[in-house]
Amino acid sequence: MTAAGALFALSPSSPLPQPDWLPWRIQQPIAFNHNVHVEELGFECVDCHLYALTSVRATIPNIENCADCHEEAQTESPEEAKLVEYIAAGEKVPWRKIYRVPDHVYFSHRRHASIGAIECEVCHGPIAEQVKPVGRPYWRPTMDNCMECHEESGASNDCVYCHD
Ligand code: HEC
Ligand code: HEC
Ligand code: HEC
Ligand code: HEC
Ligand code: HEC
Repeated sequence: MTAAGALFALSPSSPLPQPDWLPWRIQQPIAFNHNVHVEELGFECVDCHLYALTSVRATIPNIENCADCHEEAQTESPEEAKLVEYIAAGEKVPWRKIYRVPDHVYFSHRRHASIGAIECEVCHGPIAEQVKPVGRPYWRPTMDNCMECHEESGASNDCVYCHD
């Protein structure tokens, strides 16, 4: 299948199967609200996840990206108050990664989100609607789950592409 075909087949209207297996939820240090920043303030994903279209890792933004607007509190939110304190102390917010693959696996955001034109939501779900951090992955990046989409979209399942 061509990349355009893959985009069509993998639009958010046909999301990947969701995990029902995770007993735990990861707690983030600040209850960040995607919905406010994306839907109300009009941010694009890549305004914060700077490298999601151009590099291997999307990256999670930190105080240097938030300080422009949150050096002083704009709301009564206790969650924002925590952020203001981190910024004042010059301390990084210790965000925890929910999605991860082991070091022996090669996964590139650029390859999927840019070259493959797969929308973020296909793998990460309806993030823009979230008013607090998601505690568990929407889609679990296991070998079987990677290979299932490769099979469906005609991408290679040769061991060497995903493993050095
Ligand atoms: C204003 C900045 C900002 C914008 C805009 C933004 N994000 Fe985020 N994103 C964050 C922060 C901060 C976190 C860490 C806290 C959390 O998980 O909510 C995060 C976490 C995530 C995570 C979880 C990563 C992990 O492994 O823990 C995903 C996936 C994600 N964002 C995707 C998106 C997508 C897709 C969009 C666009 C619809 C988007 N984000 C827009 C700041 C932003
Ligand atoms: C361009 C300005 C801007 C940037 C950059 C920005 N924010 Fe915000 N943020 C706002 C505004 C404005 C509000 C208040 C929105 C409202 O309540 O209507 C807000 C609200 C918040 C709140 C409280 C919202 C709630 O509903 O609890 C938190 C927490 C927050 N931001 C965290 C972050 C973090 C973390 C970053 C950096 C990754 C960030 N913001 C980057 C403008 C920004
Ligand atoms: C084909 C599936 C897929 C697509 C599409 C995708 N991601 Fe990811 N994302 C992943 C996987 C897998 C990881 C874990 C990667 C790792 O640990 O190296 C991840 C990790 C992340 C993280 C955690 C920080 C990091 O860099 O590891 C953020 C934030 C994120 N993605 C945002 C995005 C955004 C924004 C988009 C759209 C521009 C997007 N992703 C598109 C699968 C995807
Ligand atoms: C939603 C579908 C989807 C998922 C999920 C997905 N991929 Fe892919 N992947 C693709 C498509 C489509 C391409 C081909 C993109 C292109 O080059 O047009 C691709 C390409 C690749 C390539 C490049 C292969 C080459 O020919 O060089 C690697 C490596 C890769 N994916 C690894 C992974 C890993 C690791 C995971 C799981 C963590 C994963 N992918 C999950 C759709 C997916
Ligand atoms: C599309 C990407 C992809 C392809 C193709 C792929 N793998 Fe993997 N593989 C992964 C991911 C992601 C993991 C880590 C998550 C997991 O263990 O499910 C993994 C894990 C592994 C592990 C470690 C399992 C463990 O229990 O720690 C082995 C061994 C492995 N792969 C071998 C292979 C072999 C052999 C092939 C070729 C037949 C192959 N892989 C093809 C993505 C891939």
